Amino acid sequence: MQRDGLHVEGVALADVAARFGTPCYVYSRAALTAAYAAYRDTLQAHGLADRSLICYAVKANSNLAILNLFARLGAGFDIVSGGELARVRAAGGDADKIVFSGVGKSREEMRAVLEAGIRCFNVESASELDQLSEVAGTVGRRAPVSLRVNPDVDAKTHPYISTGLKSAKFGVAFNDAFDLYRRAAALPHIAVKGIDCHIGSQLLDPAPAAEAAGKVLALVDRLVADGIVLEHIDLGGGMGIQYHADEPAPAASVYLAPMLARLAGRHEKLVFEPGRSLVGNAGLLLTRVEVLKPGEEKHFAVVDAAMNDLMRPALYDAWHDITRVGADETATGTTMNYEIVGPVCESGDFLGHDRQLALNEGDLLAILSAGAYGMSMASNYNTRPRAAEVMIDGDAVHLIRRREEIPQLFALESTLP
Ligand code: LLP
Repeated sequence: MQRDGLHVEGVALADVAARFGTPCYVYSRAALTAAYAAYRDTLQAHGLADRSLICYAVKANSNLAILNLFARLGAGFDIVSGGELARVRAAGGDADKIVFSGVGKSREEMRAVLEAGIRCFNVESASELDQLSEVAGTVGRRAPVSLRVNPDVDAKTHPYISTGLKSAKFGVAFNDAFDLYRRAAALPHIAVKGIDCHIGSQLLDPAPAAEAAGKVLALVDRLVADGIVLEHIDLGGGMGIQYHADEPAPAASVYLAPMLARLAGRHEKLVFEPGRSLVGNAGLLLTRVEVLKPGEEKHFAVVDAAMNDLMRPALYDAWHDITRVGADETATGTTMNYEIVGPVCESGDFLGHDRQLALNEGDLLAILSAGAYGMSMASNYNTRPRAAEVMIDGDAVHLIRRREEIPQLFALESTLP
């Protein structure tokens, strides 16, 4: 910690707060670049980089500056809506490096995405396949398709972000996939391109992803034997990150190794869809302590960020480390066990339980590892403007999203005549 407190790259967070206010998301360009490089270098080390495309999962953080940065690094994109398609294009992403995932694509989205000329639709049901063939027919194209198969593997993560079990709404049941491929191959406006699988998010154990890959490869080989040859294999995202100082996450090289080892010696191209692991540790949420409220049972620190800014603690009981931004010698408050909570009118509005901190009102706090599924899941609940977003690049500070203004929040509404 430097004399003027916590820094991101060359910039003091206190200066960011003074300039842009709080709550404010702060990202590091160097950390984003390093996370992408770690993924790419791991593919390189396994001799797979030349035939791999890293499609950043836009939902993790869809700010244009972040999308543009990944596009410049050569990434493709995994999108789940027409809205995300528009963002990727506005950020300069190539359409032919986009894969379109999601369990409920609308016909309108299918049309827009077909017209953009993307790389592949990851189809999740028999009905979707039929609808897509029909829509493709109306726009005079053949839709490039992978089936997202559900390998029935337990990802051992939070149930809300586990997607690869039979009981999940996602993907085509593994046992139905073979027949559905045959059907897809016979449809006039469908071009079978690949296979896709994504079993969940925030995975720390490499074994489930490797097991799922093994199942997918066995299916690919069965398809080939039946005359259905696939150009690519998409192994999804899911690699976990560190949220807790005491619980390190495996490095990309360690997490991906067992899965990548299974791909050696094959000829198919590969697609990966990492989201969280490219952005999560590269961002934090900067917030200010408004009120300290000591109580009989609990001591509360009410900060100016809330569940609408960072929903993960309220939604998944997720842990984010929280640290004081000020230099240690400015920590004049008594160290206490605090509940870090926001101003929203819900008891579920907490950002952290049981945090040992020495706080004064007015102190700045950094909620760490908030780069993924932070701003992208933010809402205007309680008519709270969404936070500003700032990107640090060395000593330079770039405002990449202005703080919303209150009149914008009801600008689309009207009263009755
Ligand atoms: N591909 C598909 C088809 C996905 O559904 C997801 C994430 C990804 C890729 C990216 O996965 P990642 O590499 O980020 O794990 N809001 C939750 C996470 C939801 C993940 C949804 N799907 C959270 O804050 O933990």
